[in-house]
Amino acid sequence: MAGGTVFPEQGTPRSQMMAALSEERDHDLDWRGGKAFSLVYHPDDPELEALQHEVADMFLHENALNPFRYRTLLRMEGEIISMACDLFGAGAASLSSGGTESIFLAVQTARDEARARGVMQPRLLASRTAHPAFAKACKYLDVQLEILEVGDDGRAVPAHYAAAIGPDVALVVVSAPCYPYGVIDPVPEIAAVAAGAGTLCHVDACLGGYLLPFWERIGREVPPWDFRVEGVTSMSADVHKYGYCFKGVSTVMYRDPELYQRQVFMYDSWPGGLYASASSAGTRPGSPIAAAWATMTHLGHEGYERLARRVAAATDAFRSGIDGIEGVRVTSDPEMSVFEFGPDPDSEVTVDMDGICDVMDARGWNLDRQNGGLHLMLSPGHDVVAADFVADLSAAVADHGSGDGRTHVYGGVVD
Ligand SMILES: Cc1ncc(COP(=O)(O)O)c(C=O)c1O
Repeated sequence: MAGGTVFPEQGTPRSQMMAALSEERDHDLDWRGGKAFSLVYHPDDPELEALQHEVADMFLHENALNPFRYRTLLRMEGEIISMACDLFGAGAASLSSGGTESIFLAVQTARDEARARGVMQPRLLASRTAHPAFAKACKYLDVQLEILEVGDDGRAVPAHYAAAIGPDVALVVVSAPCYPYGVIDPVPEIAAVAAGAGTLCHVDACLGGYLLPFWERIGREVPPWDFRVEGVTSMSADVHKYGYCFKGVSTVMYRDPELYQRQVFMYDSWPGGLYASASSAGTRPGSPIAAAWATMTHLGHEGYERLARRVAAATDAFRSGIDGIEGVRVTSDPEMSVFEFGPDPDSEVTVDMDGICDVMDARGWNLDRQNGGLHLMLSPGHDVVAADFVADLSAAVADHGSGDGRTHVYGGVVD
């Protein structure tokens, strides 16, 4: 028997369970304190959080499988889709449960589009920095993944795509930005390669999608990356990342509503009647839809810009602080608020990033270890901890041992 916990003979009273749970949770990672940098995007906005709890509670038991049964959910989902299309200039969109599902849906759509033109063994071109969800989607959907090397700046290289493109390529993938270095790939050049070959180009903006439009509006320089770029045919952007909703909501978008139709599933050979759905899930929880709608509607452009300003302030403080410490530097030149920092090759000070991370761990920080350095993803609440972080990092760089050889794992360390 796996695990060891048996199905209980008797139930546990609520008060006893809640007391034990809160005691246990007190030892979990305290992301509200600003010392964690992955997996949670903390808006540090108590009013927004209270609103999300309230709306989530209201729709906790509803099922969005057939939204026509639940009219309020149907309206909210329709409005989220419409707001996303407006924000990004898409022609059609659907919700999904997260970035990975959005990516799966975009790959499936592209695979079926390729099959429709007679390509039975399609390839997908992506750079090494593309999220592993593409590798996962290719494995599940029987698409051949071809990984291309990135340039020294961490960005995808258009010439590599041009060399690899062919009539059997179903989808060309770029990131805006990629997770490991936070850099935006040269979308216009690579989308042009895809368009020139008559194939599709997906921008993975799961991470940056709901920050970049506001980043641009607050005056930050953002290279072209969305549907304003010719040749971009689909895009993924997660509301549960910089859209500041809790987990379970992403948007997958298409320039062409007809292409989107390839994502829609209809089945009428079942005794239960016609079964139709737009994403891979069947039963879908109502709470994430309700909370995503409430978050977007409550914040609007003005609210997202306010939060973007705080993220920008945190980014500037962290970046200048890190670059001011002899021995380390920010890798590449990230456009956004996500980046890696590692050893500075031009410095005479030698550092061991795992050793530095061990010291930071001991001081209560929770950095993610990547293969070339340590990873930071900044949320609005990080602006207030920047000075403490830089002081602790400076001390850690000055005095650390060698790393303990732990495996570098996305989102944290393995115990
Ligand atoms: C660039 C990028 N794409 C896709 C994903 C996958 O998103 P999810 O974990 O919601 O499935 C992530 C997650 O961090 C990401 O950073």
